[in-house]
This record gives sequence, C-alpha cells and structure tokens, in this order.
Amino acid sequence: MSSALIVDGLRKRYDGFTAVDGLSFKVDEGEIFGIIGANGSGKTTTVECAQGLRLADEGSVRVFGLDPQTDRTQLRSEVGSQLQESELPDRLRVWEALDLFASISPGSADWPELLDEWGLTEKRDAAFASLSGGQRQRLLVALALVNRPRLVFLDEMTTGLDPAARRVAWDLIDQIRARGTTVVLVTHFMDEAERLCDRLAVFRSGRIIAEGSPAQLVAEYAGDASVRFSTDQTDLSWLADAPGVTAIDRAGSRVTVQGTGPLLAHTAAALVAHGIAPVDLEVERKSLEDAFLALTDGEEPE
Ligand SMILES: Nc1ncnc2c1ncn2[C@@H]1O[C@H](COP(=O)(O)OP(=O)(O)OP(=O)(O)O)[C@@H](O)[C@H]1O
Ligand SMILES: [Mg+2]
Repeated sequence: MSSALIVDGLRKRYDGFTAVDGLSFKVDEGEIFGIIGANGSGKTTTVECAQGLRLADEGSVRVFGLDPQTDRTQLRSEVGSQLQESELPDRLRVWEALDLFASISPGSADWPELLDEWGLTEKRDAAFASLSGGQRQRLLVALALVNRPRLVFLDEMTTGLDPAARRVAWDLIDQIRARGTTVVLVTHFMDEAERLCDRLAVFRSGRIIAEGSPAQLVAEYAGDASVRFSTDQTDLSWLADAPGVTAIDRAGSRVTVQGTGPLLAHTAAALVAHGIAPVDLEVERKSLEDAFLALTDGEEPE
C-alpha cells in the first residue's frame, strides 16, 4: 500500500511554546485517517504543516512523495483543504465561490453537482455573509472537493452541522472514499471518528499517544465490556470459568458480568449450557469515547 501522506518527526513551536512535539504518522492511499485529541493538542497545526500552510521547525512532510512547502504548485491539483477557520469575502455568492475555485483548479468537478450534494442548491445566489454557520461549513467542504483531490484534509468538517446534515456529510465522505480519495479528518465527534475512520491517531500535547483502528483503540483502552441479564438461579459460580470473565456482580435477580473479548458470546453460551436463556440479555458496548476519555485522562482543554 503506498502512502498518501508521511509525517516524520514534525515539530512546531510558537514563541517557545511547543504545539507539535516531534510526531510521526503515515496515511495510506485510499484510507480515512482520523485525528482526535483535546482542544490545543496540535491537530490543526499538524494538518496545516502537512499542507504547507505553516512552516515546521523540524521534521519532514511528504504528500504523494512531494514536499508541500516546495512543490505547492504540483500539489495544488492533488490536495483539497477545508480549514478549521476559513473566511470568504462577505459578498461572494455561493455559486461564485464554487465557480472561482473550479476555474483555478485543474480537473475540477462539476460544481452544480457539489452544490446539490452538499444541500446548497437553494443558496446558490446567497452571499457568504448571509449563510448560517452550517451552510458556510458545507460550502467550505464543497470547495475543498472542487478539484477532485486525491487527498483531502477536513478539519472539523461537521462542527456546526445539524444532525441530518451530519449524516449526509458522512455518506458523502463514504462516497469520496469509494472513489479512492484519501481523507484526513480532524474531529471532536467520537461517533463520527468511529463510523468513518479506518485508522485514528490520538493527539495529546503535541504527541501521538495511541494509533490504530477504532476497534483496536476500543479493545485496548476502553476497559472491560459488561453483559447484563436477569435470572432467579442463585448459584452462578460456573460463569466465572467462561472465557474472558473477570467479575460477576449481582443485585437481586439482575446480574452484571464484566470481562474482555467476545464476552456476550461466551456468557450466552455458558448460560444456555446451564439451562438459562434470559430474555433480557444485553451487552454494554464500549465506545471510542470510552477509549478516548481513558487515554486523555480528563485532560483539561488549554
Ligand atoms: N498562531 C499561533 N500562535 C501561537 N500559538 C498558537 C498559534 N496557533 C496555535 N497555537 C497554539 O498551539 C497549540 C495547538 O493549537 P492547534 O490549533 O494546533 O490545536 P488543535 O488541536 O487544533 O485544537 P482545537 O481542537 O481547539 O482546534 C495551542 O496551545 C494553541 O494555543
Ligand atoms: Mg484545531
């Protein structure tokens, strides 16, 4: 698998404050790579350095083998960018913005199609200043995709979007991936990261403290799963022998089993083997949010 992006030993200081502290990661071509981390952990600085928008103090960045600082012209047609804080001229109309971006980007997409995909057809003639926060955000994502990039950076793509628009955005990102586009997605939404990302890097204080697929991060850091059910049978000592079970708690007829691995399957098998088939057997699935909170340990935003 070839790499779309290689960040190696990146370090960035602002007036002596180290915002990015020597971090390295690779993004494979065609994957959706997520970056999560508390406010101020260096996510935007990293993606801005990766796009050649900020000059790193140390380390190197390669995008499809090119240096974004020196090969910017060559990369312009390959990379799309939605920055966390972008502004357009107040009076620029939605269609004008798309038309302008399309005219300066070789191999551009059909922008009326993007207008439709991102739910902006009705706002075609509206000025940027008159758009709501979510509509601006959608326009900025559409603009990032106008040149049909091979790699797109989305920094908080869905912040400010209503729940329905967020789902639409997720579906569109799926479609973008299906076309083979590589996506680097910075997000604070753990459900979004879990749903969309093939792999994730967890940032803390300018470093990567964990990396892996959402499922790997959940399995490694989110803690034990629990399974609950009700039974009147009092002796459940045999359940402790089921694979992965670490604890069994009981409150009246309600039983909570804690453990690791495929706990639901093992618990259900042991119960059925002992003639118990509870109707209310349920699993509390650990989420990426549990893993994130455990990893960042309640880190205060800076
Ligand atoms: N232009 C700048 N000058 C000085 N310090 C800066 C500048 N830009 C960012 N920083 C600092 O660098 C650190 C990392 O900022 P960055 O914007 O990369 O964080 P982030 O992870 O994107 O945060 P958020 O989740 O809030 O977007 C922060 O402490 C921030 O205050
Ligand atoms: Mg940021």
